[in-house]
Amino acid sequence: PLVSMKEMLNEAKANQYAVGQYNLNNMEFVQAVLQAAEEERSPVICGVSEGAARYMSGFKPVVDMVKTFMEAHHITVPVAVHLDHGSSFEKCMEALRAGFTSVMIDGSHYPLEDNIALTRRVVDAAHAVGVSVEAELGRVGGQEDDVAVEEAEETYAVPSECSKFVKETGVDCFAPALGSVHGPYKAEPNLGFDRMKEIDSAVGVPLVLHGGTGIPAEDVQKAIGFGHAKINVNTESQISSAASVRRTLEEKPDLYDPRKYMGPARDAVKETVKAKMREFGSSNRV
Ligand code: G3H
Ligand code: ZN
Repeated sequence: PLVSMKEMLNEAKANQYAVGQYNLNNMEFVQAVLQAAEEERSPVICGVSEGAARYMSGFKPVVDMVKTFMEAHHITVPVAVHLDHGSSFEKCMEALRAGFTSVMIDGSHYPLEDNIALTRRVVDAAHAVGVSVEAELGRVGGQEDDVAVEEAEETYAVPSECSKFVKETGVDCFAPALGSVHGPYKAEPNLGFDRMKEIDSAVGVPLVLHGGTGIPAEDVQKAIGFGHAKINVNTESQISSAASVRRTLEEKPDLYDPRKYMGPARDAVKETVKAKMREFGSSNRV
């Protein structure tokens, strides 16, 4: 069933594992992510950035595609469709009207009070219709679609601001920037675990780790130990899809039927997602 993230994240936090948010990029990603979740008996969050939604013809077509494929493939595990890095109140409302069951409002580039006010408005509207809300404080580095943050602008979230933010907004889960980066890491990630620990005990709600690609397994486990119940993965799936297409076309340069190179790419994404589910501990929880 299509559900909000609230219950799945609270359950994950209580049982010390994380649910993955796997970003959708095209139809094959939808199939790969849903089938991976069903085969792993794992709850799953389908992440949709505004850019990816544009690519797939809009919010409504994405939700409809997820729903239709869930039916066609008899998906029985809980699935959330979540707006990733929503840029405005209006975009969040658009997603909500299209049938998204969860939204992120990313006001992390605004001053604290403005971020709180904006997030509060989204929470009020979303909660009224049972949709969960994620928000961010501090700035996750790197680039993902429309969201680009220079190294100099990267900032770690401050614990006292985090507890104020979560209390005053009523968000269901919370993404404090702690040194993770969108896209491939240029060097080993340097996550601020001391900060993480402080923030975890200060806020109470499940934490979200953005930039899940390339974080060493032991850091992932530490992050889960410090309250992270949601980990976002996009680049890693994109890389395995692209690598598969490259391999297929190099082996068979005369090939032209997209099914022949997108099919194996879809399988590659599915395997990547399944491996993450096992790593995050969300397999066999349903
Ligand atoms: O919001 C999406 C993510 O944070 C994805 O990050 O592309 O580095 O895996 P990633
Ligand atoms: Zn992100």
